[in-house]
Amino acid sequence: MNAPVSSKTFVPDAKDLHLPTYAELKHVPGLKPHPIPILRTIKFLKDPLAGVTTNVKNFGHVYRVNNFGGWNIGLIGADANELVLFNKDGNFSSELGWNPILGRVFPRGLMMMDGDHHRADRKTLGVAFKPEPMRIYMTALNEGIVRGIAKWAATPEFKFYPAIKQLTLDLAAASFLGIPWGPEADQINQAFVDMVAASVGIVRVPIPGTAMARGVKGRKFMCSFFAREIPKRRGATGDDIFTQVCNARNDAGTLLDDQEIIDHMNFLMMAAHDTLTSSLTSMVYYLGKNPEWQDRLRTEIMAVRASAGPELPYDRLGELEQVEWAFKEALRLLPPVPSVPRRALRAFEFGGFKIPAGTHVGVNPMYTHRMAEYWEEPETFDPSRFSHNRSKGRHKYAWVPFGGGAHMCLGLHFAYMQAKAFFYVLLSEYRIVLPEGYVCDFNMFPIPKPKDGLPVRIERL
Ligand code: HEM
Repeated sequence: MNAPVSSKTFVPDAKDLHLPTYAELKHVPGLKPHPIPILRTIKFLKDPLAGVTTNVKNFGHVYRVNNFGGWNIGLIGADANELVLFNKDGNFSSELGWNPILGRVFPRGLMMMDGDHHRADRKTLGVAFKPEPMRIYMTALNEGIVRGIAKWAATPEFKFYPAIKQLTLDLAAASFLGIPWGPEADQINQAFVDMVAASVGIVRVPIPGTAMARGVKGRKFMCSFFAREIPKRRGATGDDIFTQVCNARNDAGTLLDDQEIIDHMNFLMMAAHDTLTSSLTSMVYYLGKNPEWQDRLRTEIMAVRASAGPELPYDRLGELEQVEWAFKEALRLLPPVPSVPRRALRAFEFGGFKIPAGTHVGVNPMYTHRMAEYWEEPETFDPSRFSHNRSKGRHKYAWVPFGGGAHMCLGLHFAYMQAKAFFYVLLSEYRIVLPEGYVCDFNMFPIPKPKDGLPVRIERL
């Protein structure tokens, strides 16, 4: 006899899910059909924060939109974040939420998995993020950061965004792939940049000349690079994430197969790259705008540097408490993943509205992070709001730049580590200076990025 299937573990098959029509979502307040939906998308992309703010003002915390063609329900606030991200009842699929966006170029990555398969692979990959391998990646990060920042100092006025993007790519070549800086790393970087650009491009099919066509070509290149390297890495003791993943075993003692390694590696690199580039950029901007915070962090860093020397040791990461607050505050104001998509596997209720199975839903860290009910003076850069005392009593899902629940960012400690290692070197040797009166205009979507690349000057102390 078959064991009874509890409603919690039963996961409907995607093919059985129907996409709710406008009529089926009409009871939810929101936008009406538009004769040319792409115009709505273009308007939304120009200023997504303003778009969400208007929707919340007009419709409340549960609303219907069709910014990207299909109908979608926006769920706003910390309770909505908890419902969807913690996903206590297993009502929401990450795979079906992310696949339409990332599935073409980054198929079968962790975010495009649900249930037992996701749990098992996440546990296997987790081996690469344990303290011992992390300690080793930190050595590679430190070396690269010192070298990269020294190069910037030769032309102290530059655009920060492209510079940190390049440095993050170079650091990934060493710490993710274990390959030295040079022509091979450059080729890999280019293929990878094309893949990332494709995943966020508006055209979703690989028509020649489009970002998607370049992304598909980039994926081919990356897949053959990994396929060639896997046999060399199996059984090797490597100091990089790729070698760790090649040798990671699941609970049954089995290694991931080649295709699984390729898919996870492509996805891991994507998940790390733009998010780190964006968050380090926003933190540099806010520190440039708030020199008093720059000084506070520098004082904290110098106290460690006095005994630790020019590179931050792994064991002393915990001492950079205020650097961590500042990074968190930059992530609050400009979260690299501004909204998180899911698809409802079953009907559910939120805020008094019944939402049918099959609906695409989205929660919104970008908006929640600026809601006055959770944040005092939400527009002000104030890292001390993350101090122990001031964090007490705050809703656990009011700050969710790394998501939450089963899909919470696997690389968040890596992100803190890279951010701390980077600011340790930058702030102890240089002052970040922005042009007089400068205010940066950020594109918020799909990932926050300064429209003008963020002009900065770094002055030697
Ligand atoms: C500031 C930097 C970062 C931010 C803001 C960030 C944000 C996020 C968010 C919001 C999610 C969850 C998405 C969802 O629930 O749908 C996520 C997942 C993930 N992130 Fe990050 N991330 C960052 C850096 C990194 C790094 C450095 C790595 C790898 C070294 C990484 C690897 C991953 C992976 C593998 C997942 C999927 C986890 C799963 O589905 O189980 N991320 N990240």
